[in-house]
Amino acid sequence: MSIPNEFTIAGPAPLRGRLRVPGDKGISHRALLFAAMAVGRSRAIGLAGGDDVARTRLLLRDLGVDITAAGSAVTVEGRGVEGLVEPAYVLDCGNSGTTMRTTAGLLAGRPFLSVLSGDASLVQRPMGRIVEPLRAMGAHVDARANGTLAPLAIVGGGLRGCEHHPPVASAQVKTALVLAGLQADGTTEITEPCPSRDHTERMLAALGAPVTADGRTVRVSAGAPAPLELTVPGDPSSAAFWVVGATITPGSDLVIEGVACNPTRIAFVDVLRRMGATIDVDVTGEELGEPVGDLHVTASALQATTIGGDEIPLVQDELPVLAVAAAFADGVTAISDAGELRVKESDRISTVESLLAGLGIGVETAADALSIRGGRPRASRLTSYGDHRLAMAAAIAANATDGESVVDGWRAIAVSYPEFTDDLMTVTGRV
Ligand code: S3P
Repeated sequence: MSIPNEFTIAGPAPLRGRLRVPGDKGISHRALLFAAMAVGRSRAIGLAGGDDVARTRLLLRDLGVDITAAGSAVTVEGRGVEGLVEPAYVLDCGNSGTTMRTTAGLLAGRPFLSVLSGDASLVQRPMGRIVEPLRAMGAHVDARANGTLAPLAIVGGGLRGCEHHPPVASAQVKTALVLAGLQADGTTEITEPCPSRDHTERMLAALGAPVTADGRTVRVSAGAPAPLELTVPGDPSSAAFWVVGATITPGSDLVIEGVACNPTRIAFVDVLRRMGATIDVDVTGEELGEPVGDLHVTASALQATTIGGDEIPLVQDELPVLAVAAAFADGVTAISDAGELRVKESDRISTVESLLAGLGIGVETAADALSIRGGRPRASRLTSYGDHRLAMAAAIAANATDGESVVDGWRAIAVSYPEFTDDLMTVTGRV
């Protein structure tokens, strides 16, 4: 699908009807990885179609995994971790931090050389957070800038379990250590400073792998998941754009169907409800330990709130669009303890600041904080800074604003949500 690099939006246009968002990105990466680690045939329907998950799929192919796609179904012929082969090429993770960090954990257990690299954004993101603990388990990991930045070169094998206390809550780091722990002698224990998203624990436990979660601690011993059959639920981080869009655009009434409702992923709903949003969550089923349901949103006036502490890891991917909600709210919204935003696909403290400033909204920033004075955003020329979530946050703001706005760098949406433009046209009745 070819995506233009500039997108013009004339608002305001209410969001109405029913919508399905692409499959959850985090669950899609994990489904592919776990299927490759299992022995036997796995099948997943509705994997996320963006570039990030494609990177994980292609990387696994380079490791010798037989993966075929037919329509929206993907079949993986898993031969277990022993069946993985030394890749002949550098493994290109593109823009995907999840691909790089989680597969580094998988490869830390394999007795061959793998080299992982990525795009201009990914090679600037912190990798010391996986390099150090994987070295502590016995893997040989080299990385640029004194072990802190990609490219990474890994010669794995001979792992021993140990206790990890990562200083930052990160589901990618936790997943890397769990995948290494499944290949290590003894027990691996990971205790996070506060909870991060828990798909890895839920899915692996549902697949019979020796992984247990107890509060902030995950325990792993040697073993493997069974093959899986999965229909991937919709991505709540993608749904968040529509939830905010329907809340801030008068006249909206929208249902987003079949969304992953894992509590570590839909905390943004609590933030928006606190601000006065009207959102019903109706859980209708479960997939591999993951609750699935529909979100019903109607337009509401918003008040400012505070977001900080342990809530941050649970809403961090949604903070750009929550910042847009704050721009439309009455009062000053304070976001604190959000230093991790600086090391996402862009420096999201500074890119969110520029986005909101472009909309004419007052913003103050600190090293790990943003304070947003809500008002009446005005139509403008905006940019994505090459970050998919900034692009879509900009479009949601523009759609709720009087007049014509343009988002430059629109192509960035391909990373997680290539269908976003069509979905916006559908729910605003422009097609
Ligand atoms: C992800 C974890 C989060 C999130 C990222 C995807 C995952 O990062 O921001 O987009 O799938 O594990 P952390 O590793 O910082 O939690």
